[in-house]
Amino acid sequence: MNARRKKFLSYYRPYWRLLLADMICALILSATALALPLCIRIITKDILEKPGPDALNQIFAMGALMLALIAVYTLCDMFVGYQGHVMGALMERDMRSELFEHYQKLSFGFYDEQKVGQLMTRLTNDSFDMSELYHHGPEDIVISTLNFIGALIILVNINRELTFIVLIFVPIMAAYAFVFNRQMKRAMRISKDRIGDINTQVEDTLAGIRTVKSFSNEAVETQKFATENDRLVESRRQEIRSETYFFEGLIGFTQLLTLVVVVFGAVSIVQATLDLADLLTFLLYVGILIEPIKRFGNFTRLYQEGMAGFERFMEVLEVAPDIKDAADAVELAQVQGHVSFKNVTFKYKPGVEDVLQKLSLEIKAGEFVALVGASGVGKTTLCSLIPRFYEVQAGRSCSTA
Ligand SMILES: Nc1ncnc2c1ncn2[C@@H]1O[C@H](COP(=O)(O)OP(=O)(O)OP(=O)(O)O)[C@@H](O)[C@H]1O
Ligand SMILES: [Mg+2]
Repeated sequence: MNARRKKFLSYYRPYWRLLLADMICALILSATALALPLCIRIITKDILEKPGPDALNQIFAMGALMLALIAVYTLCDMFVGYQGHVMGALMERDMRSELFEHYQKLSFGFYDEQKVGQLMTRLTNDSFDMSELYHHGPEDIVISTLNFIGALIILVNINRELTFIVLIFVPIMAAYAFVFNRQMKRAMRISKDRIGDINTQVEDTLAGIRTVKSFSNEAVETQKFATENDRLVESRRQEIRSETYFFEGLIGFTQLLTLVVVVFGAVSIVQATLDLADLLTFLLYVGILIEPIKRFGNFTRLYQEGMAGFERFMEVLEVAPDIKDAADAVELAQVQGHVSFKNVTFKYKPGVEDVLQKLSLEIKAGEFVALVGASGVGKTTLCSLIPRFYEVQAGRSCSTA
């Protein structure tokens, strides 16, 4: 397991009890969903086909059992819905706190390179995507796998030929779901980027609002904003289109499958290889079998989005703060104002010219010194080195007691 994956899973650690309870509820959800059609089958087949003298009692007993199953299902569903989302939100909080603390450790050098809007997006939007994955991911995997396998086993036991027909549909539907899900994902990514572009545009205009107004430049800014806004509508249109294909297409397939099962099932009934009660049960399980395909489609999207968010999150978290205290660093308790530079060489980033070269300077406590020079000569830079906002490449700069 690579380090990032480990890190991803590590956020579950404080909430493993909640996760376990969530998974148990998902198991129960799956089991009750599979048991309900079986109960219906007992009524329609075992009780109604040869009704005995206590048929009514048996029907009421089955009714009570189904009521209990539904109650359990609803309770588990509520638990997963509520506690699962809360768990996701708690994990999201932990990640946000960690990132925020990390932001505060990074030096000016980092902030010179980054856009504030982007850093804010990582702290808010991206972590929300991850929270959804953290919560829905395990539950989707458990429920869809169990429902699919369980329904399939029951279908085979009811009627093999009909199950075979259903199985022809499954890969076609899965391929369809996969293709349109990918399209949907791509369109979503573009939309997200464009929302970022809009944010950047707004940040630009609002940060410079005084300049904009001084030069009566509102019309130009409005025009620039309108362009970005229209681009977003275009990508939203693509997103909605692929969403429509995905969901409506799957519904169409489901209806087609139902139709095929009904026709073939009816033919089998005429040929006396199937009875009505089995066809009814079969149709109920077909519904359960299709659900995991949709759920799985949804999961792949959550996974892609959540993982993309996590990668962006880790990219920042893995930036090591370039200013670190030495192992033998001494706390500077009382500052008198003695500033001393010895052979200081500094540049802002690799590959650019040095701003300061071998600069030595001594300013005693209480002394006044004026820094004079043309714009860009390095006055502000020199001042930034005194509180160690940047790390020098060579020499020593210190402000001592
Ligand atoms: N954050 C930064 N990242 C990269 N290069 C920078 C950064 N800040 C300043 N520089 C560059 O470092 C050099 C020194 O800039 P500095 O701001 O220290 O000059 P200055 O003497 O304060 O100028 P001014 O009189 O205009 O305030 C300039 O070439 C400038 O372009
Ligand atoms: Mg300056």
